[in-house]
Amino acid sequence: MHVIAIDGPAASGKSSTAAAVAGRLGWLHLDTGALYRAVTLAALDHLEDAEQRSAQRVRDLAGRLPIELVRVGDGFRPVVAGVDVSGPIRAPRVTAAVSTIAALGEVREWVTGEIRRAVGVVEEGVVIDGRDIGTAVFPEAPLKVYLTASAQARAGRRLAQDGQPASPEAVSREAARLTVRDSHDRERVASPLRQAPDAIRVDTTTLTFEAQVEAVTVLARKVFGD
Ligand code: CDP
Repeated sequence: MHVIAIDGPAASGKSSTAAAVAGRLGWLHLDTGALYRAVTLAALDHLEDAEQRSAQRVRDLAGRLPIELVRVGDGFRPVVAGVDVSGPIRAPRVTAAVSTIAALGEVREWVTGEIRRAVGVVEEGVVIDGRDIGTAVFPEAPLKVYLTASAQARAGRRLAQDGQPASPEAVSREAARLTVRDSHDRERVASPLRQAPDAIRVDTTTLTFEAQVEAVTVLARKVFGD
């Protein structure tokens, strides 16, 4: 099974690292957070208020629209009713709501099924990033990495990624937002964010992006050979 599972807290660089490692190995990259974000975007747009956004309704909506992971080049794109939503899923309103929607057990079952189906039909290896890949979606993955960094470092990087100024106040505000989302993700009942017992922890607080990509690539070559 050519799967690398990369899990970790918000803005720990999972997606960018996973994409770069996949590129180096000639594998595909699958960002599972994008699918949770797509479900959240659809729920915000199609279900009027929080009361309407029950697990069953959100799950039914996802199947009906439908929401899909579509293979494009060496990755997958979130598509809602035929429209690529890679841009809109990054909106602050989606980020603010996603951990609530992702806590719904039926939504998680549906998303997990879609991820396994997408991976099941590809021949290449896949680097998959999320919160529960090594613990719940692919617990048998031969390589599991838990990518983490201090909340301050993650906040600074996320602001830079979004093209926003990183004043000390802005970094503190962003760090607080990330910490709230992490708490939601860690405290939910359905497949919470956890480091799998056999995952290798990579703390990137003081690493450059290149160094963290190299660290994971070295692990991959050790596990899967050249
Ligand atoms: O990129 P960022 O770290 O901001 O988050 P993301 O990977 O896009 O994931 C957004 C949200 O989706 C997370 O905060 C989780 O609530 C949820 N998620 C999850 O529950 N399980 C996954 N495998 C991936 C994401």
